[in-house]
Amino acid sequence: MKGLILSGGTGSRLRPLTYTGAKQLIPVGNKPILFYAIEALRDSGVTDIAIIVGDTRAEIRAAVGDGSAFGARITFIEQERPLGLAHAVKIAQDFLGDDSFIMFLGDNLVRGGVDSFVRQFLSSSPAALVLLSEVPEPQHFGVVELEDGRVKRLVEKPKVPPSNLALVGVYLFQSDIFRAVDAIQPSARGELEITDAIQWLVDNGHTVEPHQIRGWWKDTGRPDDVLDANRLMLEALERDVRGEVDEHSHVVGRVQIGAGSRVVRSTLRGPIVIGDNVVIEDAYIGPFTSISDRAKIYRTEIENSVVLEESHIESAYRIDGSLIGRRVQIVPAVNKPKTIHLVLGDDSRCEF
Ligand code: G1P
Repeated sequence: MKGLILSGGTGSRLRPLTYTGAKQLIPVGNKPILFYAIEALRDSGVTDIAIIVGDTRAEIRAAVGDGSAFGARITFIEQERPLGLAHAVKIAQDFLGDDSFIMFLGDNLVRGGVDSFVRQFLSSSPAALVLLSEVPEPQHFGVVELEDGRVKRLVEKPKVPPSNLALVGVYLFQSDIFRAVDAIQPSARGELEITDAIQWLVDNGHTVEPHQIRGWWKDTGRPDDVLDANRLMLEALERDVRGEVDEHSHVVGRVQIGAGSRVVRSTLRGPIVIGDNVVIEDAYIGPFTSISDRAKIYRTEIENSVVLEESHIESAYRIDGSLIGRRVQIVPAVNKPKTIHLVLGDDSRCEF
């Protein structure tokens, strides 16, 4: 069985972070979201993996390499424009050949990995196995209608959802799917939809097996999803302090501090992950916070947040539930009492 990870897409709902970087490389628990997908496939025994890349191809290639760091072999396939998930399957046909495969959307996270789904698929050999999860707002997803436990209808982002069962971004297919993707037409949004291809399988008498997952799943399309995913990944963190902590600091609970980092006169209450060469002085870092390499946090209270590389934060306000990009500066205004001075990129958002 082969693996196909989709890592194109524009990440419009995660702007401004995605103006300068791939959404799949935004870290949760200080690890890029995409790496969790690669590791999930590898852990289920799938090591021959293609990644579909788009505009952010250079950044993704640089981060992933040839896959040897993951114990996998990775091939990159270029998609000129984001023309849909079924289009991605089409352009991967040479790589996939007659093998069955597992397709994983690179911005999805599934707790507990995918091993059990791979085993179920290999033992019952349906044309497709789709994973479903009950969600409160199904209109944001592909939605499945079941009848007597079988897949009857799939609709992409319906205004009036026929059920609350969303399609999780992990699909297992036999090579019949290539006939389906060749048979369908682009949707109203101009994309070849994988939901339409799976509907074609259903309509043409192929077995499409549904599997409702009970565990945690997240499509990290929006900032709040990234923060939720970060919280979940930090739940499983173990304590590992490599950097220096001075005698005036308190580091409580499950906290990781990377090499070369310094904690001075600060309180850290886990779960927290702090990367390498980070400086934290006179600060409070609260639960569910991830701080990436080379960030600097002075005289600030921050919790339940994600801070990316090289940002410098010195904030009079407590920072909570925030997603802060790379090289961001949040610093006190000089000689400007009671005013704020902002230089924000397009689509930034501040709440005071
Ligand atoms: C895609 C699929 C949708 C699925 C979702 C899961 O949507 O089209 O059917 O439910 O992934 O993450 P997207 O998030 O790319 O808009």
